[in-house]
Amino acid sequence: MVVVKEVSAKAIFDSRREKTILVKIKTNVGSFSASAPNGKSKGKYEAKSYMHSLEKDIDVLKKSNDYFSQDEIDKFEDLRRIEDIVEGHVGANTLFAFESAVLKALAKEKKMQVWQVLNPGAKKLPRLVGNCIGGGKHSHVEGKKPDFQEFLLVPKTKKIKEAFEMNKKFKKSLELDLKEKDSEFDGKKNDEDAWQTSLNEKEVLDILKRARVDIGIDVAASSFYKRKKYLYENPVLTRTEEEQLFYISNLIKNYDLFYIEDPFNEESFDSFAKLLKKFPSSLIVGDDLTVTNEKRLNKAIEEKSINAIIIKPNQNGSLLKVKKVCELAKKNNIKIIFSHRSGETTETILADLAFGFQADFFKCGITGKEREAKLKRLIEIEKKLNR
Ligand code: PGA
Ligand code: ZN
Repeated sequence: MVVVKEVSAKAIFDSRREKTILVKIKTNVGSFSASAPNGKSKGKYEAKSYMHSLEKDIDVLKKSNDYFSQDEIDKFEDLRRIEDIVEGHVGANTLFAFESAVLKALAKEKKMQVWQVLNPGAKKLPRLVGNCIGGGKHSHVEGKKPDFQEFLLVPKTKKIKEAFEMNKKFKKSLELDLKEKDSEFDGKKNDEDAWQTSLNEKEVLDILKRARVDIGIDVAASSFYKRKKYLYENPVLTRTEEEQLFYISNLIKNYDLFYIEDPFNEESFDSFAKLLKKFPSSLIVGDDLTVTNEKRLNKAIEEKSINAIIIKPNQNGSLLKVKKVCELAKKNNIKIIFSHRSGETTETILADLAFGFQADFFKCGITGKEREAKLKRLIEIEKKLNR
């Protein structure tokens, strides 16, 4: 049994030097803390990170202190008690960090790993999806850059350590290609520690062709969709919805793309469906489309829009609801991809959540202390399983 005796929170900086929340709890089994990440290319339908502001959320937690200590928490489902008190009063980042800290306390009390509190029978490890080159909103390049946000490496092996090493090695080798092909390449990295470049998406994909892993893209198409058109800058041109479908289809064919995230605007359930119908053996992934939200996922299921969904716990906030979204996806044969955010902390609970909820994929940057902390935690889980 865990009793939360005191809750406090403070602002800390994420990898982008932006403020995010760290929640600390004092319980009958010790003190625990957890922090939330921050997105930049956020979906329009995501839950708000904070109800009014980070500072006001901290105040709400402080003022609710007396209520929390009246409850005994003994299992994952008991997070409901916390939600009954703070739901509607704090934002998704605050709720996620708070519930994560409580899960850590529960794990300690039960002498278990966090993932075991969710699912003691978990066995399957996820495949890694690693961001190696970035454009769009995550890139700091002033001039030309890829319009697509992410270029992803998806090793076939489920051995996490092996996949991690493969991605690191390949990402490092890309430096030489970029030096050779991109006269403006300066060796700098973007928000997720992926390489930045002035090349366009086709030029990047030409380089990635030589990889011996599956290749993916996160188009993050909502970020350049305006007035019913996709506004490309490199090269400058516009595409209608139909032209976008044609363009993405050609890229999938020509580059044998395995993974395609948010290829259309976040309202375009029907275009996703058309693409999935054409390429049922690729992963057509919803992120901004579905925002880890049960209603949005239900719509995507009804319209047959996707066969894979990004799960970002802080797009929702409630881990109980995150679990429901995962269950709904699983029931409908939709692959589950747990994902980091572009602004990250060294928090590792994402790895436990991904394994506990039996994610099919784990999407994360490849290097940088915030990303490596999560990957190392997955490797640790893998090691303990094999013992
Ligand atoms: P984020 O975007 O900046 O909102 O974390 C990452 C993504 O689109 O996958
Ligand atoms: Zn995305």
